[in-house]
Amino acid sequence: MLILVLGKGKTGSLVAEVARERGHGVRALDITENQQASALTAPNLAGVDVVIDFTAPEAAVENMRAVLALGGRIVVGTTGWYAHLDEMRAKAQKGGALLYGTNFSIGVQKLFRLTAELARLEGYTFSIGETHHVSKLDAPSGTAITLRQIVEAAQPGAKVEITSHRVGDAKGEHTVIAAGPDDVLELRHNILSRRGLALGAVRAAEWLAGKSGAYDFREIFDQL
Ligand SMILES: NC(=O)c1ccc[n+]([C@@H]2O[C@H](COP(=O)([O-])OP(=O)(O)OC[C@H]3O[C@@H](n4cnc5c(N)ncnc54)[C@H](O)[C@@H]3O)[C@@H](O)[C@H]2O)c1
Repeated sequence: MLILVLGKGKTGSLVAEVARERGHGVRALDITENQQASALTAPNLAGVDVVIDFTAPEAAVENMRAVLALGGRIVVGTTGWYAHLDEMRAKAQKGGALLYGTNFSIGVQKLFRLTAELARLEGYTFSIGETHHVSKLDAPSGTAITLRQIVEAAQPGAKVEITSHRVGDAKGEHTVIAAGPDDVLELRHNILSRRGLALGAVRAAEWLAGKSGAYDFREIFDQL
């Protein structure tokens, strides 16, 4: 497969490394080579099976628009752009393919499932904590927002507080707490290396090759 990685930052550079290790051809572009999606033209995308985006919220929206308009396939790991989710899903239904996820770690996908189970408890107050590196642009994290949506789906009307911390190079920690009058339950996931995220994104791209439409990583990770 030929993969085009957008973003050569902390995660994108690892995605390119993992994709090469898995035997894929890889091209990578950073902001200087792809201002306002300028590199995402038909000639440049010819032969590219899947684009993977780990850039920034506004850039990701421009990149999705450009790739989907050309009928291409794109995996989006970038978070913080979900106000445009309906628009992007609609574009992907018309041509090309989109797979997005707030977190490509398989461990975090398990945390989502466990949180759905925990959230069935009655009589508890739920809260979420997240810690990331200081240069993260969005707060709360996309993953924390997903966790809140999962709890709220099981506890309609519940108020779920999210506390965000920005510390050094923290790679991503999420905690879900259920506090009751007699006990407290806590689920915690801590990312030790971004490699797991990069591997999840590359496996998502392998899954998306040959498909069309819009997919949330949460719905498909079991099929990887
Ligand atoms: N879904 C997940 O599992 C997951 C995991 C890690 C990070 N993220 C998200 O991915 C995004 C990137 O995270 P990071 O920690 O790698 O950030 P980073 O700042 O280290 O890297 C982002 C890179 O994108 C580049 N960039 C910006 N606009 C671009 C464009 N138009 N074309 C090409 N490159 C462009 C920047 O120059 C930078 O090098 C963030 O939104 C973060 O929240 C998601």
